[in-house]
Amino acid sequence: MQNPKSISAFYDNLASDYDTMTDFENRLGREAAVFRPIIDRLAIQTALDAGAGTGFHSLVLSKLGVNVTAVDISAEMIGKLKENSEKLRIPVDAVVSDFETLTKHISATFDAVFCLGNSLVHLLTEDALLKSISNFHSLLKPGGVLVIQILNYDRIIKERNRVQSIRKAGDTTFIRFYDYCENRLFFNILTVKEADNKIDHTINTVELHPLLKEEMSIYLERVGFISTEHYGSLRFESFDENKSSNSVTLAVK
Ligand SMILES: C[S@@+](CC[C@H](N)C(=O)[O-])C[C@H]1O[C@@H](n2cnc3c(N)ncnc32)[C@H](O)[C@@H]1O
Repeated sequence: MQNPKSISAFYDNLASDYDTMTDFENRLGREAAVFRPIIDRLAIQTALDAGAGTGFHSLVLSKLGVNVTAVDISAEMIGKLKENSEKLRIPVDAVVSDFETLTKHISATFDAVFCLGNSLVHLLTEDALLKSISNFHSLLKPGGVLVIQILNYDRIIKERNRVQSIRKAGDTTFIRFYDYCENRLFFNILTVKEADNKIDHTINTVELHPLLKEEMSIYLERVGFISTEHYGSLRFESFDENKSSNSVTLAVK
C-alpha cells in the first residue's frame, strides 16, 4: 500500500483532476434539483459549505439564492472553486481553513452548515471530530441545521468490497478503492492516463474514519445539538444500514 497522505496533500494532488473524476457538469444537472426542497424545508438564506472542495454544492446553493461561504483545508481545491465560481459567474466567498480552527477564520453565523460529499470521514480522532462538530455548532444560528452526508460505512464495513467506483473520462481512468487493514480504512485513487502510446499511473492514498450512524449521533449529542434525524439520501429517503449508499444526518441547534 502507498503511504497515506495528509488531507491537504491528498486533495492538493487531486484538485486538477477532481472535476473530471466526479463528472462536475453532469453532476450539476443530476444533483442540483435535490437542493431546492432542502432550502425550502429548512428555510435557508445563509450557509457554510464545510469541505467545499471545488465548490459543487456552494455553487448549486448560491445559484438557488443562498448566501454561501465555502471553506476547505486544501488551497488547491479552493483555487479550483474560485475558477468555477468565475467561469459560471456565481458568487461564493471562499476561505482556506481546517474544520478544527474554523472559528478563528469565520465569525458570521449561518442558517445551515453543510458538510457533504464524504468530507467528515477525513477526521481520524475523537478529538478532531468533537472540535470540528463543535465549531459547526458555534457557527449556526439558534435553530440552524447541520447537514452531514457521508457514505454508508455501516454497510461498507460489513461488505468489505474493495472497489468503490471506476470512471473513464477521455484518456484517463479513475479507480477508487479501499484497503481494509485491521481497524483502519485506507482510500486510494488509482489514476491511469494514456497519451502518445504510453500509459502512466499515480496512486493517491488517504486514511478515513468509517463513521457509523450511531457514532455520529453520539458526537452530535455531545456537542449540544438538540435533535438528529437520519436519512439514506439528500432526498430524505429512509436509511437502511444494509442497503443505503449514503448516510445523511440533519442535526438542529
Ligand atoms: C470528497 S471531497 C468533497 C468536496 C465537495 N463537498 C464535493 O462533494 O464535491 C472532501 C473535501 O473535504 C475537505 N476536507 C476534508 N477534511 C477537512 C478538514 N479537516 N478541514 C477542512 N476541509 C476538509 C477536503 O480538502 C476535500 O476538498
